[in-house]
Amino acid sequence: MDKDQLASTARALVQKGKGILAADESYGTIKKRFDKIDVPSTEETRRAYRELLFTTPGVEEFISGVILFDETIRQIAEDGTPFPELLSSRGIIPGIKVDKGAIGLPGFPGEKITEGLDGLLDRLEEYRDLGARFTKWRAVITIGEDIPTPYAMDANAHALARYAAASQAAGLVPIVEPEVLMDGDHSIERCYEVTADTLNNVFSELHRARVDLEGMLLKPNMVLPGKESLEQASVEEVAATTVRCLRSTVPAAVPGIVFLSGGQSPEQATRHLNAMNQLGEHPWELSFSYGRALQEPSLGAWRGELENVARAQELFYHRARLNSAARYGEYSPDMESVAA
Ligand code: 13P
Repeated sequence: MDKDQLASTARALVQKGKGILAADESYGTIKKRFDKIDVPSTEETRRAYRELLFTTPGVEEFISGVILFDETIRQIAEDGTPFPELLSSRGIIPGIKVDKGAIGLPGFPGEKITEGLDGLLDRLEEYRDLGARFTKWRAVITIGEDIPTPYAMDANAHALARYAAASQAAGLVPIVEPEVLMDGDHSIERCYEVTADTLNNVFSELHRARVDLEGMLLKPNMVLPGKESLEQASVEEVAATTVRCLRSTVPAAVPGIVFLSGGQSPEQATRHLNAMNQLGEHPWELSFSYGRALQEPSLGAWRGELENVARAQELFYHRARLNSAARYGEYSPDMESVAA
C-alpha cells in the first residue's frame, strides 16, 4: 500500500469547489429511477443515461470523481472509449461501488447487513485494472422502535472496516458509507444519537482494522428529523446539529466528509451543505457525493429521448455548479432559477 498515493487521491476527491457524483445505482435501484420516467431499464438505456452524465460539457469544473457500478465500469461510450478512460481523460477520478447490497440481518427484524466481503480482494484488483482509483461500501442503519440494536451496528461497522482495510491494501481509497436512513417519524435528536453511535462504532472498528484515516473518506447522512416526522428542522438547525455530531465523532485526520443525499430534494441537499460550509473552518473538507440530489432534474428532463440529452446535461451541469458554490458557502436559493 502506498500511503502517499492513497492520501493524495483522497485529497483530490475533496479538492476545493468539487464533489463526487454517485452513479452507482444497482440494477434494482436504477430500474426504480427509470420506472418513474417510463424508461425500460436495459443495458443500453443504462449505458446511454450514464454517457449523458459523463459527457456533460464542463461538468469536470465541479465534479472530482464518479462512483460507478460493476456493469458501468465495463461499458463504453458511443465513440468506443471505455467509461473509466473517458472520465480520466476529463480529469474526473473513476470509482466503484464494491459492496453487494444489504440483506436482512438474520435474527434481527427490520435491520440489515451489507454483503460482499468474500472474494473482495480479487474484485478490487480487477477494478483497479479497469481504472478505478477509489471504492465505496454502503452500510444501512434503520431507526425504529427498539432499533438499531448494538449487534446490527457492530456487524455493519465490522464489515465496513474490513472492506476499508482491503481497499487500501489494493491501493484504492475507500469511501466508508454508514447511512442512517431518513425513513421513520423520529426526531432530529434521535437521528443525532443514532448517527453519533454509528460513527463512534465505525471509527473504533476502522482503528482496530488498522485503516489509514488519511487515505479514506467518510460518506455519512446529514442529521435530520425522520421523513414522516411532524416536526421539521430549519436549514440552520440541520447544519449546526450535523456539524456538532461530526465534530464529536470524526477524527481530524480524515481529509474529507462527502455527504449522501438520502432522499432530500436537490435544493435541500444543496442548502444544507452550504449552511454547513458557512459554519467553517472545519477540520475536514465538507463536500458532496450525491446520487439523487445531483441527478433528479436531468433524469426528469431526459425521459430516454435523444432530443432531450442537451437539456438534461444543462440541468446536471447547473446542479453540479450549485453544489460547488455550496462547498464555499456561496450558494443562495436565487441561483436556482438562473437558466442553466
Ligand atoms: P443518494 O445521494 O441518492 O442518497 O445516493 C448516494 C449513494 O451513493 C447511496 O449509496
